[in-house]
Amino acid sequence: MGGIKIHFKDSDGNPLKTVEANEGDDILSIAHEYDIDLEGACEGSIACSTCHVILDEDTFFKLEEPGDDENDMLDLAFGLTDTSRLGCQVKVSKDMDGMSVQLPAATRNMYVDGAKPGH
Ligand code: FES
Repeated sequence: MGGIKIHFKDSDGNPLKTVEANEGDDILSIAHEYDIDLEGACEGSIACSTCHVILDEDTFFKLEEPGDDENDMLDLAFGLTDTSRLGCQVKVSKDMDGMSVQLPAATRNMYVDGAKPGH
């Protein structure tokens, strides 16, 4: 199972966990599966920016450009970088094997708590 290695890093760039994912999984689901602290308040419906992650450059440029909805949400993300994406919108593929995913410096969770769906 799995086979696509993803190196998660904390906001300082220190290694957090290396996990293996399956083709087609999105980064938010993978993070949840492995207990990585990525929130994803809207569960993938592009209505928050709490799943913001920072990709390595190679991987970022391999991906299709984010859609307008995603860009709008990214604009609200705290600590936005040139290689930022919404984790729930990035599906891993074999050629992303070995990619790194860094957590942003801080999230705006405190500002979006009201929009958090109940579980
Ligand atoms: Fe809300 Fe990704 S989980 S935009």
